[in-house]
Amino acid sequence: MLYNRRKFISFVGKASLGATIIPPFLMSCGNTTNPTSDVTNASEETLKRLKNLVLEAIEASDKDELLLANGMESHVIVKWGDKISDQDTFGFNNDYTCFIPLDKENPKDGLLWVNHEYADPLFVSGFNFRAHDNPMENRTVEQVDREMYSVGGSIVRIREENGKWSVVKNDPYNRRITAQTPIKINWNQPIKGKNIFMGTNSNCSGGITPWNTFITCEENYHSMFGETVYDENNEPKKKASWLGWEKFYNYPPEHYGWVVEIDPKTGDAQKHIALGRFSHECCTLYELDDKRVVAYTGDDKADEHIYKFVSSKPGSLKEGTLYVADTINGKWLALDWESQSVLQEKFKDQTEVLVRAREAAKLLGATELNRPEDIEIDPVTGNIFITLTNNKRKGDYHGSILKIEETDHKFDSLTFKATTYKAGGEENGFSCPDNLAFDMSGNLWITSDMSGSSMNKEGGPYMPFKNNSLFVIPRYGSDAGKVIRVASAPRDAELTGPWFSPDGKTLFLSVQHPGEQTKDVNNPTSKWPFDQDNIPKPAVVAIQGDLIEKMNLLRQIEKKG
Ligand code: FEO
Ligand code: CA
Ligand code: CA
Ligand code: CA
Repeated sequence: MLYNRRKFISFVGKASLGATIIPPFLMSCGNTTNPTSDVTNASEETLKRLKNLVLEAIEASDKDELLLANGMESHVIVKWGDKISDQDTFGFNNDYTCFIPLDKENPKDGLLWVNHEYADPLFVSGFNFRAHDNPMENRTVEQVDREMYSVGGSIVRIREENGKWSVVKNDPYNRRITAQTPIKINWNQPIKGKNIFMGTNSNCSGGITPWNTFITCEENYHSMFGETVYDENNEPKKKASWLGWEKFYNYPPEHYGWVVEIDPKTGDAQKHIALGRFSHECCTLYELDDKRVVAYTGDDKADEHIYKFVSSKPGSLKEGTLYVADTINGKWLALDWESQSVLQEKFKDQTEVLVRAREAAKLLGATELNRPEDIEIDPVTGNIFITLTNNKRKGDYHGSILKIEETDHKFDSLTFKATTYKAGGEENGFSCPDNLAFDMSGNLWITSDMSGSSMNKEGGPYMPFKNNSLFVIPRYGSDAGKVIRVASAPRDAELTGPWFSPDGKTLFLSVQHPGEQTKDVNNPTSKWPFDQDNIPKPAVVAIQGDLIEKMNLLRQIEKKG
């Protein structure tokens, strides 16, 4: 059997649904969240009421609105610039969200982690890149400081009252982690002479640990402090960044591109070096029966790779082996200096292998993939789903979703089978899949990430899809397997960070970079969410309504027939 009997029983309990096996870890703290009594023991009336609600797709749209399918409504929980305490404000370009209830018995009160991926200087610091021939002239350190404050993450206590979620302002748990928060490393050797790095940035997607801490992943770190690149003689050279922070703060690029863990209550942060350094989109963890941990993480860059860390000790994200995927031969290849002579020839030790993980992966023969982004474990089958967003250079405009089946369904297996689960394109109605989330019935939710500069371009490959959207693939019923568009983002925006509340009644979702194509703040391309400032603001919304509840209860509804 796939998962052990004790775990199986503890989840399924009285609401047993035949052969469906769901590992409780995923249910208790994955994107699949907690089954509470509300969800597992929904009343007859609830099931009857929801049964007749039809899941109807919405049309693709280019409107500057957050459009939702019938049976869904939304409200803004928190937006960029909102005060979360007397000291701190909510950051910019919110991405990954993760909600952990403070008390397991109360799904309506808890701590929300939100990633803040990158700063758009036009809005954040008033520095207009688009209006300068030489962007770095006339730029001040105060502007850069404002940009650095706007990224990282926020922890906010949120509560639902009368059907509306809001931030508990000045709650002692509310805090910011920024690009200038000192963060220790979980490693025995310093990197570029330091054991404490300055800040975290490029926080895209993330994860949650089996011990209920937040994981935030540093993705396009090269955009902030540049990168060190090596020539054919293995000589390092500095490559400049897009935002140019390295001109103001001399922090080494090697301090970014890591998986970062955050303690929800204390805000204590640590960077996990053993998971390698690259553009980590996300990190999805699974706890084995013996409490060792498996962590899947993708490198969102064209022609980069999928990695998996397997710990050798219970609960460790330090002791263990990092592997990289050869998806053609179905092999996990160990990024292990001790046992791989090809790595010994190029790198001086394991630390250098991890810092230069991309180069090490290529030396081992890892498979180049089309921008691996989010990763989720199917709570029903245990298969691993990975979005491959696109690879325009290779002619893959619409991306696909890759499915990995580990041999014998063992997460620490060293072999697997990889197949395409669903291809993007007009036939399936979506393009450029990015974030994934499974709900409590095992329906798969997908967000898309067509770039702002290529969306809605007449004659371009993305024209038919219009604005970025949220889709669901139902698992049961007459729509099973179909990709259904249920939300359409405001102009230039991307919907990110889908996360279900523990009672399955709220979908937390980020609206990131509305109005990203704006050249003049007085004439923005979006004004969402339409507050008094008349400029676009990234925000986290709560999506509720019968359709959200129905999808989470779909397994029970279908079972009753
Ligand atoms: Fe930040 Fe790969 O999306
Ligand atoms: Ca993403
Ligand atoms: Ca996810
Ligand atoms: Ca993306």
